[in-house]
Amino acid sequence: MNHLNECHPEIYESLLENIIAYNNNGFTINEIAESLNQTKKFVSDSLNLVMESDAQYIVKKPLNIKKWEPKNFNLEATTVWSFKDRGDWATHNGKYRGNWSPYIPRNLILRYTKEGDTVLDPFLGSGTTLIETKLLKRKGIGIDINPDAIKIAEESLRFNKNYDYNPTIYNMDSRNLNIIEDNSIDLICAHPPYANIIKYSDDIEGDLSLLDIDDFLNEIAKVAKELYRVLKKDKYCAVLIGDTRRNKHMIPLGFEVMQRFLKAGFALKETIIKEQHNCQATGFWYKRSIEYNFLLIAHEYLFVFRKP
Ligand SMILES: C[S@@+](CC[C@H](N)C(=O)[O-])C[C@H]1O[C@@H](n2cnc3c(N)ncnc32)[C@H](O)[C@@H]1O
Repeated sequence: MNHLNECHPEIYESLLENIIAYNNNGFTINEIAESLNQTKKFVSDSLNLVMESDAQYIVKKPLNIKKWEPKNFNLEATTVWSFKDRGDWATHNGKYRGNWSPYIPRNLILRYTKEGDTVLDPFLGSGTTLIETKLLKRKGIGIDINPDAIKIAEESLRFNKNYDYNPTIYNMDSRNLNIIEDNSIDLICAHPPYANIIKYSDDIEGDLSLLDIDDFLNEIAKVAKELYRVLKKDKYCAVLIGDTRRNKHMIPLGFEVMQRFLKAGFALKETIIKEQHNCQATGFWYKRSIEYNFLLIAHEYLFVFRKP
């Protein structure tokens, strides 16, 4: 690189501009290296250099994608789902707090939809569901109340694949989905906050992660009503939700949420137990569970509802 830069600065400059253009258009380091007949190291070093320098280029974060799909994927066939390796294909990663494993939306999308169908995620977070809709050629719609989540999702969706399936994202409140027509969605993949177990913002009006159990349940009932309205008849709405513990007892948040969806008109098609692998059952928490005689929660519920 130094040789090229020092001896042929104009060639290097033009190559660099090409690398940046490819990168900003969502090509991966591998793809850029192949297209420009350079090594991956050269491409990656060049991008890092420009990002660290104060040159006037705008360089988006490079996409270092190793694979586009999971290895040896098979659809889940039982009511217990467990993904030890959470899935790191495409732009998936576990950085967004409480995000779900991409194996969940992949299973739902492949089982319940076909190419070209419309999939809605009303609690988009970092965009896991929409990465899958784009990879699997479904029309994705994602909604989140937090503008920071929207930015993260947009960044993870900027890869240059299946351009026709670039999803639509809205920064809004899922309790009112007035931009979506009645009976227009083929599948809903919903992963709401589990009341205020993880807070996703400090003070965003309408953020359900700021609400304690009773208020949360009242508001999730409004979301359930909207999801029922927008879903097509005979199609499915999947909701991942976990329980919590207060003082000495379990709060069956999962079953309470399920009841709100039934009340909205849905019928229960499947109850799936999803094993939680980030449950810390060692050290401090192990000792506490023995000392105070309680079991550590290591599962969530994935309810699949049908609109009858
Ligand atoms: C559990 S996270 C979703 C994580 C997502 N499945 C992923 O893989 O990244 C829940 C999300 O719901 C969002 N949220 C909270 N209240 C909302 C509301 N009223 N409408 C839409 N989104 C909301 C939060 O900002 C948060 O990003």
